[in-house]
Amino acid sequence: MTRKRIIYEGKAKILYEGSEPGTLIQYFKDDATAFNAEKKAVLDGKGVINNRISEFMMKRLDAVGIPNHFIRRLNMREQLIKKVDIIPLEVIVRNVAAGSLTKRLGVEEGTALPRALVEFSLKNDELGDPVVSEEHIACFNWATPQEMDEIISYALRINDFMCGLFAAVNIRLIDFKIEFGRHFDGDLQRTILADEISPDSCRLWDFDTNEKLDKDRFRRDLGGVTEAYSEVARRLGILKTSASGAEIVDFQAGPK
Ligand code: TMP
Repeated sequence: MTRKRIIYEGKAKILYEGSEPGTLIQYFKDDATAFNAEKKAVLDGKGVINNRISEFMMKRLDAVGIPNHFIRRLNMREQLIKKVDIIPLEVIVRNVAAGSLTKRLGVEEGTALPRALVEFSLKNDELGDPVVSEEHIACFNWATPQEMDEIISYALRINDFMCGLFAAVNIRLIDFKIEFGRHFDGDLQRTILADEISPDSCRLWDFDTNEKLDKDRFRRDLGGVTEAYSEVARRLGILKTSASGAEIVDFQAGPK
């Protein structure tokens, strides 16, 4: 057996060279970090659940016309993805005030926003991913104006779609973070959704009880982190509980 070549190792994922040209393998670790890796833990099974949830979200988004990097799941922790040049921005969409927005602007957690709010952070751990404006992005050329138009339009479409998808399973989508990449296909360059969509990168609250079903359980030491992630997977129909415990079942993402 040959060892796969590591292309990049992040806090929760590893990217390996893919088996086909122009592809990578995205491996989901059980590692969880918060506050720029000041807080760390290993959460048994988190990577397996996030691999499944991200696959589910990417397939659904593809089916509604949002191009993304997902090609196919390879096994419990790995998926084959299209290789992209990541645009160095974290794109955050918020529907309800929470997290850093409440700290920065003094808005109370849980306040519904009058419209979806799109924010950008520069992907730079040394600087602590600072919030940046479109003016900064244009001035330093982190993304072109055309890419920004596409990113904002995709981000709002993804938000609309995911709000509905989660509402149907009694989950309120508070906010989420996504990343985009430049995909080169011959002479054609396209902006596509990359990275992951999982309870690590979203805030998800139960609609009736406001119970947190996301990484805030880890950030705030609330316990039951993987149980909450499993609950999200169960509600989406990815996980089925059998008499012998939880088992993962296959699902259809609609016509391909
Ligand atoms: P924030 O309120 O801490 O800025 O987070 C906004 C959203 O982005 C929230 O859903 C969590 C997600 N997020 C990440 O995915 N990665 C990060 O490094 C941070 C800080 C937030």
